[in-house]
Amino acid sequence: MSVRFRCVVGFLATFLLLGCGGRVNSEPTQDKQALLAFINQTPHANRVQWNNSVSACSWVGVRCDGNQSYVQSLHLPGVGLVGPIPPNTLGRLSQLRVLSLRSNKLTGSVPPDFANMTVLRNLYLQDNELSGAFPPALTLLARLNRLDLSSNNFTGSIPFAVNNLTQLTGLFLQNNEFSGALPSISSGKLQSFNVSNNKLNGSIPASLAKFPSSAFTGNLDLCGGPLRSCNPFFPSPAPAPVTPPIVPAHKKSKKLSTAAIIAIVVGSILGFCLLLLILLLCLRKHRRQHSPKSPKPPVTAARSVAVAEAGTSSSKDDITGASTEAERNKLVFFNGGIYSFDLEDLLRASAEVLGKGSVGTSYKAVLEEGTTVVVKRLKDVVVTKKEFDMQMEVLGKIKHENVVPLRAFYFSKDEKLLVYDYMTAGSLSVLLHGSRGSGRTPLDWDNRMRIALSAARGLAHLHVAGKVVHGNIKSSNILLRPDHDATVSDFGLNPLFGTSTPPNRVAGYRAPEVVETRKVTFKSDVYSFGVLLLELLTGKAPNQASLGEEGIDLPRWVQSVVREEWTAEVFDVELMRYQNIEEEMVQLLQIAMACVSTVPDQRPGMQEVVRMIEDMNRAETDDGLRQSSDDPSKGSDGHTPPQGSRTPPSVTPTP
Ligand SMILES: *[C@@H]1O[C@H](CO)[C@@H](O)[C@H](O)[C@H]1NC(C)=O
Ligand SMILES: *[C@@H]1O[C@H](CO)[C@@H](O)[C@H](O)[C@H]1NC(C)=O
Ligand SMILES: *[C@@H]1O[C@H](CO)[C@@H](O)[C@H](O)[C@H]1NC(C)=O
Ligand SMILES: *[C@@H]1O[C@H](CO)[C@@H](O)[C@H](O)[C@H]1NC(C)=O
Ligand SMILES: *[C@@H]1O[C@H](CO)[C@@H](O)[C@H](O)[C@H]1NC(C)=O
Ligand SMILES: *[C@@H]1O[C@H](CO)[C@@H](O)[C@H](O)[C@H]1NC(C)=O
Ligand SMILES: *[C@@H]1O[C@H](CO)[C@@H](O)[C@H](O)[C@H]1NC(C)=O
Repeated sequence: MSVRFRCVVGFLATFLLLGCGGRVNSEPTQDKQALLAFINQTPHANRVQWNNSVSACSWVGVRCDGNQSYVQSLHLPGVGLVGPIPPNTLGRLSQLRVLSLRSNKLTGSVPPDFANMTVLRNLYLQDNELSGAFPPALTLLARLNRLDLSSNNFTGSIPFAVNNLTQLTGLFLQNNEFSGALPSISSGKLQSFNVSNNKLNGSIPASLAKFPSSAFTGNLDLCGGPLRSCNPFFPSPAPAPVTPPIVPAHKKSKKLSTAAIIAIVVGSILGFCLLLLILLLCLRKHRRQHSPKSPKPPVTAARSVAVAEAGTSSSKDDITGASTEAERNKLVFFNGGIYSFDLEDLLRASAEVLGKGSVGTSYKAVLEEGTTVVVKRLKDVVVTKKEFDMQMEVLGKIKHENVVPLRAFYFSKDEKLLVYDYMTAGSLSVLLHGSRGSGRTPLDWDNRMRIALSAARGLAHLHVAGKVVHGNIKSSNILLRPDHDATVSDFGLNPLFGTSTPPNRVAGYRAPEVVETRKVTFKSDVYSFGVLLLELLTGKAPNQASLGEEGIDLPRWVQSVVREEWTAEVFDVELMRYQNIEEEMVQLLQIAMACVSTVPDQRPGMQEVVRMIEDMNRAETDDGLRQSSDDPSKGSDGHTPPQGSRTPPSVTPTP
């Protein structure tokens, strides 16, 4: 009795924790006050509409930790912030890791309370109108990795105290008014450094000489290192190929011969002239490239994807003359989004290919500031920009916890990009079929049920509230949250491709009528969902050649097996170790079979499917918590198929 009670309580607790934990409306009250104090004192564009009555963790640009107990990052690039950063606001975000206020119109100096953000790792203040001396507060942020103050109006000298920042990997101070000599910065971790276009003078310290000349150019009077020598007698720049002095081999004298001196001088002058010539040519070329001010977003996008395509994780720090305001605006965000980045950020992101699908290639893009998103690069889009925009409008409105939100899109002649949330737990396809039999944890029955139900809910929401046909239901488009709640992705894209869609698209999930008409409908979605349920039950991927059963038609196969009364043989071997699940498996099988009816009208609607699965679940909770057979604590009387055995379970035909 008490065991059973504890089980139920335990189950409820687990359910609450897993099912709702992530969405509990806890929030960092103090951090929220600090954010509000900041935004209320800083004029800004409409895009930042922080609603006082919802959790700060859901605000544009705000990211919290897993417990929602503090604000972890704040990204407000290019949101039209104007004026000075109000003191004692942002400095109160004591747990902040990343702060980006770049590309705004912030003025004045950086407030001293920034020193209180002691765990700050990345600070991006570039491209503002900040002024004053190098902010002393920043030299106290011992954990800083990247500090970007470039393209502001900072003056004075660069303090030696930057040496306090021992974790610094990137320091960007270019395009300011810094003057005086460069301090010796000896942080061993420094990989990126730029002080070009300031008013610095004096010699480049040896510790910085390893950086290229473009990191130093455009200053008042810097010398040494990669630039010209500081020695007034040999004003030849180091990189110029100085002809080695022709010293006659037999002369061992340490003094240089007259000929050698002449050779050096002539060589130096020649080298200098050569460099001057190259410089002139470069300048001219540069000017020619930049004079026609035509924004080229396709190039930018193509480049970002080219980076991704190469599969390298590049993190370019500076793309010269990259983006104009016009380009930036072309990445269209939907209202209520949590992201705040632009095309330029995507361009700089490191990207890896997640998968190549029939509609295009997906990339996981990790933005410089730490945000991870999925960028889908569509191919063979046939619709016009207007039609595209209209469909995006429809898709962008869809909000449901079991639907992967579309956050932004980009349309140009050559590139069509969609930006989605990144789901950390991967796809059902990988979970179900990835490295089978090689010691991975099989997906247990409770989680399969959870996935079936949550995916059904997501799809039903698409159909009923969104009035959108998904059109591409398959296990690789069911993405999982860490708690195994499923979300459906890649919905509603068919209208973009016309009817000439490649025939190879997800053949195994395709309803029979779609093969002929090439038109997807709500009912064809239901069919595909039925195949997905069969996949969950059988552990077999439809039409997956790698299974050795090339081109199996899952519904037909299941039908044939069930007809022969071998029902137990249908189910995934991996499910045989769980107890008391046969009845549910059979019930779910019946729902799946209803969904894959050949005649569309005989298939249930998605909402009905949800209801049927929910009804199953209700019966299940009465039974208490189900356990794996290696766990003896269960309060039920069901029979126990021995592990790995394929005893036919009692297949009671359910009404
Ligand atoms: C703020 O959020 C509440 C609750 O979601 C909503 O009722 C209200 O309309 C929102 N206010 C604004 C200004 O968006
Ligand atoms: C959440 O809070 C608990 C207890 O306060 C703590 O043990 C845990 O580490 C926190 N988790 C995260 C992700 O911060
Ligand atoms: C930092 O925070 C402490 C209290 O936590 C406060 O007394 C101090 O004034 C703050 N420092 C700055 C520079 O604002
Ligand atoms: C930068 O400061 C100088 C004087 O200190 C001022 O003349 C100039 O307008 C400022 N530039 C910007 C972009 O604020
Ligand atoms: C550098 O750090 C030390 C301790 O880490 C501190 O005492 C000193 O004041 C810092 N210097 C500056 C100029 O910030
Ligand atoms: C750098 O410029 C300042 C004035 O701007 C001058 O006082 C100083 O002597 C210069 N240093 C060198 C090494 O030229
Ligand atoms: C430094 O910044 C300047 C100006 O933005 C840029 O032209 C140059 O390529 C940069 N150099 C390096 C090494 O980043």
